[in-house]
Amino acid sequence: MLSADSVQVAVRVRPFNQMEKDAGSCCIISMVLNSITVCHPRNRNNTKTFLFDLSYWSHNGFIKNKEGILIPDGPASKYADQKRVFDDLGQEMLNNAWKGYNATLLAYGQTGSGKSYSMIGYGPDRGIIPLTCDGMFKIIHQNQEPDKQYQIYFSMLEIYNEKVVDLLAESKQPRDLKVRESPQRGFYVENQTLVPCESYEQIQQLLKEGNTKRITRSTSINAVSSRSHLITTIRFKQVFLKDHLTKQSDINLVDLAGSERQKSSGSEGDRLREGTAINLSLTTLGNVISALAEIAMGKRVLHVPYRNSTLTKLLQSALGGNSKTRMIATVSPADICYEETLSTLRYAERTKNIRNKAVINENPTERLILELRAENAKLRSTITKIRNTGLRVEEEMKELRQSLAENERQMAEIQTSWEEQLEKAQQEWEQKYKTLTQERRMIQMFPYLVNVNVDPQLSGFVHLFVQDGETVIGQSAGFPQAIVIKGFGVADKHAIITNLDNKVTLEPCGQAKVILNGALLLTKVPLKHLDRLILGSNSTYLYVGFPCERNGEDMSKYDYDFFQSELAAVEGLSNRNKKVDPSVLAVFLDYIRVKPLVAEANQISEELSKDLRFELEVKNLALTDSRGHDLVKEVIVKVTNKTTHQVWVWSKAKFVNRKFIMEDIYQHFIDGKTISLDRESDPFWDPIDVVHLGTAYVWLQSLNYCIPLEEHVEFHNSQGEEEAVLQMNLVPCTPTGQPLSEDEILIDPTEMVGQRLDFQVQIKQCLGIRWLKQNSMRGIQIQYHVLNHPCPFCTKPIWNTVNARIDQVMQFTVKSVSEELLNYLQNHALVLDLWGLQEDCTEISSPSDDIELTDEGSIIIDCVRPQLPSSVEIDDDQLSELYIKLSKLEQEIELLRDVNRTLRKDNVSIKSTLRKMSDASRPDEKSFHRKNAEAFGSKGTPKASYEVDFAKALKTFYQSMNRVRNQLLGLRRHRPPGDDVETLRLYLDNQTRIIRDFGDSLELCMNTLKNDVSLIVKKKKGHNLWGTVAK
Ligand SMILES: Nc1ncnc2c1ncn2[C@@H]1O[C@H](COP(=O)(O)OP(=O)(O)OP(=O)(O)O)[C@@H](O)[C@H]1O
Ligand SMILES: [Mg+2]
Repeated sequence: MLSADSVQVAVRVRPFNQMEKDAGSCCIISMVLNSITVCHPRNRNNTKTFLFDLSYWSHNGFIKNKEGILIPDGPASKYADQKRVFDDLGQEMLNNAWKGYNATLLAYGQTGSGKSYSMIGYGPDRGIIPLTCDGMFKIIHQNQEPDKQYQIYFSMLEIYNEKVVDLLAESKQPRDLKVRESPQRGFYVENQTLVPCESYEQIQQLLKEGNTKRITRSTSINAVSSRSHLITTIRFKQVFLKDHLTKQSDINLVDLAGSERQKSSGSEGDRLREGTAINLSLTTLGNVISALAEIAMGKRVLHVPYRNSTLTKLLQSALGGNSKTRMIATVSPADICYEETLSTLRYAERTKNIRNKAVINENPTERLILELRAENAKLRSTITKIRNTGLRVEEEMKELRQSLAENERQMAEIQTSWEEQLEKAQQEWEQKYKTLTQERRMIQMFPYLVNVNVDPQLSGFVHLFVQDGETVIGQSAGFPQAIVIKGFGVADKHAIITNLDNKVTLEPCGQAKVILNGALLLTKVPLKHLDRLILGSNSTYLYVGFPCERNGEDMSKYDYDFFQSELAAVEGLSNRNKKVDPSVLAVFLDYIRVKPLVAEANQISEELSKDLRFELEVKNLALTDSRGHDLVKEVIVKVTNKTTHQVWVWSKAKFVNRKFIMEDIYQHFIDGKTISLDRESDPFWDPIDVVHLGTAYVWLQSLNYCIPLEEHVEFHNSQGEEEAVLQMNLVPCTPTGQPLSEDEILIDPTEMVGQRLDFQVQIKQCLGIRWLKQNSMRGIQIQYHVLNHPCPFCTKPIWNTVNARIDQVMQFTVKSVSEELLNYLQNHALVLDLWGLQEDCTEISSPSDDIELTDEGSIIIDCVRPQLPSSVEIDDDQLSELYIKLSKLEQEIELLRDVNRTLRKDNVSIKSTLRKMSDASRPDEKSFHRKNAEAFGSKGTPKASYEVDFAKALKTFYQSMNRVRNQLLGLRRHRPPGDDVETLRLYLDNQTRIIRDFGDSLELCMNTLKNDVSLIVKKKKGHNLWGTVAK
């Protein structure tokens, strides 16, 4: 019987995780029946709505019952618990299996969105797989018939890096399997272990066994589980003994790898593109789904790329073939996951269109054997033909022989009776059961270390018992009492853990890296119940104390993120204080997730003698744009060659890509294979490039008033540390480059509207360059953008000197000043970037095209465009206060301008009175002109002496304001250094001093201006008085 139906898609929203709660995340998802609406985190009116077949609100409205299971908190709650999800999806699969249909359930979503929670579950909150198995055994036990035999087989496969690993193989070490194709069965996994099962308990044990194998595989590499696909198969056979018929259903439950889109797809923009294999299976799955969706919509598609990846080969029948297929798309409700959530929902929406044609798999029992025999006969004749031709086609022969052997193995398996298979499985089960009870007993007797994995699904599987006396922790088992931990950076003898007189102590051995509760451990310390331990680069364990110390606390709180946040907090990075901007939180999360990968990269580099050091940094942590607004921050990795001191800066995507390739090479290395890499394929090598060292800001406000600025500004790096000091001038000038005199200072910038403005950027020298202090073989260049001109301008390269004399003058011309330009100058800074040159790198060159020059040779820059507001805001109270102060100051300046305008009006009336008086008395012409010339500027506007005074006052003011603004930026980038009390105290003292200085400078600045203005006003009043008297 054939049943055509489209893939049904369900969406599930999980609760906030701890990190999201700490950060005060907002929920951006709402559900009404099966319609799901997502709103933009910053613009709630910008919404997107999707319609699915099923939807599950598991975000809130739940409580934990006595058994620890999450259930709705009342009749009005719309919370969808595990049972509800099973009742829809699992029960349907069971019904289909009973009828003999194949069924597939795919779980798709970003890392941490709840795929494994839905599929496998956590503790008492059992997911679809255990509930389905449990349900299956219950039905079987209720439906016992004398002529019918039920057979259940269970298998677990993992696909990582396109390789298939059998997680239930008998060998201790999981082994890679081959994917083969046969005309009868399509793609299948050769030698896949299918364990015959009789009870639900057996399945529970197998799930645990499979997960433990996943950990063994990933002890040295962190993110394996999130990047791998887990395919659990339940094969359900109903054998009708009298009719010699077998009804078979394969239920495939697929927990897909985290779907996060690598920004710029992981390897894009990277010289080495092999890393795309990280996501090859997932990307291909996307392409297959798209192709099938197009076919379903009646479009002509030439090729469905099933063969392009291991996953899609194995899922071929689930996608557009003989299977009833469902997808559960899991999403996070948090604002920071907006992009990922949208992308998941779009993917799920496409999947809805795929149409499958499931058939009931009911065959005479002997049919498969007959088919296998026929296939083997064909294979044999092909082998003979090839042999007779005498051609050397070794590879092909090998393949054919392997297919032959696999078919024979399968025939043997089919012919082995179910009872025999069960008996063998039973023996193994008893053995495993013994180990299990032994472990349970030990948990009740000894303190132990329990593993905490980056994937919470894999946490809590490894128990390392601290038995009485002294135990050596390390890679080696060669000690009288040892806890063996195979992990990156773990030494043979890494630490000693002692259990004496009901007390446990831990002591690191030599230089071994042991981190206890976030801080590096240097001496012997007593361990407390629930202490967190990181051994080497990333082996994370929770210490569980003696049974008497345990109070049934919830240990799931101590997850991997908890460990990494604790580490980050020690480094001065924390998200726990208050509401954090979603983009800042995203960087924080990136930071704590990439950090362990960087530690691994360092370890791989060391073990492969690559001599590289990897350091995680946050780009733009302390830098701002030209308006002083925070720039978008992102995680970057600085790579330094420890011998040559060459430096590279990698984006996160590039690092993740490279790290993936490094892991592959490292795997070859530990497998004892020789690795020879040419430069082109070496993930540790890159061509030498320039490195961004730091940024300096010179505020442009003074140009509005034609005031020259002579500045010493500091270049600060991303982390806010000083890299060099720049001496430069910003000088308003005439078209021929003559600096304007003080008389030409403007009081009201609007006077410039419509006029030409010329100014020079004079870069004098760069002093105390840290980049050069570290290595004198290097050089520098300074690059800057002027008023949004598309091309950056740069200075000539200067090599080998800590104090670089540059002496470069560039003149720029705005042909007609606009109001927009005045606003721009008022609020923006000239941003100067310091670039580090290193041997063999290409120097930066200034553009020569796209530049328009005046007749005098000055660069024309009439192209100011308004900038979009930056999305990041500062959230520190103290700094906000300073900002308020600064904006108050600007308001006061506006008031002063008003005073000035009134003065100017008065001025005009005084002038006309003067003119009238002089007309009346017909004064001597020469003396009139001399007096008038004193009051005239060179631009031809008459200027009273108090106006000149006011201009001078403004000049002083703006010069001080430039300093104050840079001080403010300095404050914002200041971060506490270490974690010890003394450094923090010093930091606080220093911070208080800087804030006090800043406040003083502001006050001084303002007071000077106020005093100057009041003097001018007094002078002016005197003048008016004189005018009245004269009248
Ligand atoms: N519906 C839910 N109710 C309660 N907790 C949930 C739910 N979904 C997920 N969680 C919790 O969120 C965390 C991450 O979930 P899970 O391990 O299922 O993510 P995942 O999608 O499998 O991630 P990965 O791709 O890394 O394997 C777990 O601690 C889990 O307990
Ligand atoms: Mg998972």
